[in-house]
Amino acid sequence: MPTMKKQLESEYITSVSSEHRKKYGQFFTPKHISDLMAKWVTKDLAKGATILDPAVGLGVFIRSMKEQLTAGQQRNVTFFGYEIDRKILDYFAAHLDDTNITIFHEDYLTSNWKNTYDAIICNPPYLKFHDYEDKDTLLKIVSEEMNLELSGFTNIYTLFLLKALHQLNHGGRAAFIIPSEFLNSDYGKQIKQYLLDSKLLKFVVILDFTTNWFEDATTTSALFFFEKKNPKDFIEFINIDSKEKLERTESYISKYPEQPRLGNTVALTDIDINKKWRIYYQGENSSKYKNLKAFSNFAKASRGIATGANEFFKFNKTKQAQYQIANQFLIPCLTKAVQVDKNFFTTDDFNNLWENDKHVKLLNAYTKDLHDENLKNYIKYGEKLGYHERYLTKNRNPWFKNETREPAPILVGVFNREKIKFIRNEANVVNLTTFHCIYMLPMYDEYTNVLMAYLLTDVAQEILEDSRREYGRGLKKFEPNDINTSLVIDLDSLTTEQIQFITDIYQVLREKQLNGAEITMELHTLNKFFKSLLVI
Ligand SMILES: C[S@@+](CC[C@H](N)C(=O)[O-])C[C@H]1O[C@@H](n2cnc3c(N)ncnc32)[C@H](O)[C@@H]1O
Repeated sequence: MPTMKKQLESEYITSVSSEHRKKYGQFFTPKHISDLMAKWVTKDLAKGATILDPAVGLGVFIRSMKEQLTAGQQRNVTFFGYEIDRKILDYFAAHLDDTNITIFHEDYLTSNWKNTYDAIICNPPYLKFHDYEDKDTLLKIVSEEMNLELSGFTNIYTLFLLKALHQLNHGGRAAFIIPSEFLNSDYGKQIKQYLLDSKLLKFVVILDFTTNWFEDATTTSALFFFEKKNPKDFIEFINIDSKEKLERTESYISKYPEQPRLGNTVALTDIDINKKWRIYYQGENSSKYKNLKAFSNFAKASRGIATGANEFFKFNKTKQAQYQIANQFLIPCLTKAVQVDKNFFTTDDFNNLWENDKHVKLLNAYTKDLHDENLKNYIKYGEKLGYHERYLTKNRNPWFKNETREPAPILVGVFNREKIKFIRNEANVVNLTTFHCIYMLPMYDEYTNVLMAYLLTDVAQEILEDSRREYGRGLKKFEPNDINTSLVIDLDSLTTEQIQFITDIYQVLREKQLNGAEITMELHTLNKFFKSLLVI
């Protein structure tokens, strides 16, 4: 397209209102980025290849691709494009003097899903799905064509991505530019799972400049490079934070899959759709530290007791008296997170809760106990209310027998606000699912207080952050496995003197907190000490 003016986008921007561009998600790819993407998709195109741009705009990709191809190659391929906006399409057409380009004035998402292409290149519109006219029809099409049940909380660009990958021929390549927010969003989970399962995504280039790549938008972008062949068991993340690295990426793309790799390769099995993918390119907090080992080397986290009907199984003093349940059928149990407000839970704390009529006991009875009339009546009463037919209870035998759990020496809050809440369970009570249990491996039993001291420090919390899941409104959630796979100080590396030092501070901290005094100083000392052992 030799007559195509270089400044087409700039001219267009001055000729239409910003509302119009916003309505259609018209943000244009800078030419140097478009060139990079074009390099990928035009490599080794066969004679007769078909190329698609699902969101043409002013055709920057077509310009870049043509520059990559010789005149002979250009004659041997066909370009297809979709554009929903008549205005931009007319503008583009007026500057077009080519015959092997077919642009459909149509919504790409509802256009024929059966067409396939050898190369696809796209900067999809970044529009909320919420604003899309016929959401239900679209979700139905995705479900029928791809067997994917998407939630409504998505963005249009993810649907462009799914459809394009679906339409890519075997052996074909695709390149997408999308906001890097996708890598860290929750609504992208299903699409991320698809990316992992399909093994199409080879590498992601994150444009991590502080300056804007897009002259007219405030978003940071990521480039996704796909190939429907040579399935790999890893995805490479290339974080570009300088112009120089961008140039290296350009040559990397030309030579792909020649080694050495440029970015950080992460095995598909290590990529978690629930985690923010920024940890795969920005690194993890833990990377600043040495002397770390997986938590599971020393202790094991597992979930608390799930009763399936808390209101039936938990007891306070009044309820025990009401149903005349003997002490032997009740065990001490934390049933709510608010029942503990300190890092140490003692027998005194438990007794206080019980005396204050809090629900801190759990029914613990077997079939053989049914000779006890009061117990039998209470179980019958439960059956009358249908508790035996709840999802969890009906799968137990007998239905009223709760899971057996040893009291865990350390508990951790499942949901946390600022700090992750660790509790040293000195009262030896069991707990419901509001806490996870942490059990020391037998040979590390004597390290319980040392581990507890460590978990209270800022440095431990910072490292644990790598493993948390976001849960909206700043709530941090941990699954037991998140904890088991997280990193902690290597307990084996501690000398006897170090253990003594930690234990001494820990005891002072414990005493102070139980007496209602400030523990800032002790926490500071512990943090400083652990940090001195961990910092590289
Ligand atoms: C982000 S712009 C990209 C334009 C150009 N490819 C580039 O990279 O500079 C997306 C384009 O897709 C168009 N568009 C929006 N919704 C569409 C749809 N459902 N089907 C096809 N095109 C659409 C917009 O009008 C806009 O021109």
